[in-house]
Amino acid sequence: MTQRLPRLALAAALAAGVLLAAAGGAFAVTWKSETVTLPYPGPHFSGQGAALLNASCSTCHSADFVNGQPHLALGTWKIEVLKMKNVFHAPVHAKDVDQLTQILFDRHPEPK
Ligand code: HEC
Repeated sequence: MTQRLPRLALAAALAAGVLLAAAGGAFAVTWKSETVTLPYPGPHFSGQGAALLNASCSTCHSADFVNGQPHLALGTWKIEVLKMKNVFHAPVHAKDVDQLTQILFDRHPEPK
């Protein structure tokens, strides 16, 4: 089974090539730009630190998901940021880890 899949894919690619050749290769694709309006703030972060949070976290999470998390200690937020960076490969630069941690802590401080 594992060897059949690549062969099938190759056959499909060849068949597509034959069809294109049969059509005389006379086809053109025209790309045009579209503008969409995303709901805002909706799934995006707003307020202090929003730019960094959107750049680092929005690929995978809505702001609502992160905003709905419990209030945690500073060190726990750091572990969370490092988990997202190291385990899930979130686009977090090493130089931004402490700043992100502080932003998240400021938004969700540990209850006194
Ligand atoms: C590349 C995808 C990805 C990015 C980007 C990402 N995360 Fe996550 N995150 C995950 C996944 C996957 C889970 C679910 C983990 C699980 O179910 O155990 C998760 C879970 C979480 C949780 C729930 C607690 C936990 O540890 O499971 C929090 C809080 C969280 N992420 C915060 C963030 C923050 C803050 C950022 C930005 C700094 C971020 N995430 C960026 C993938 C991502």
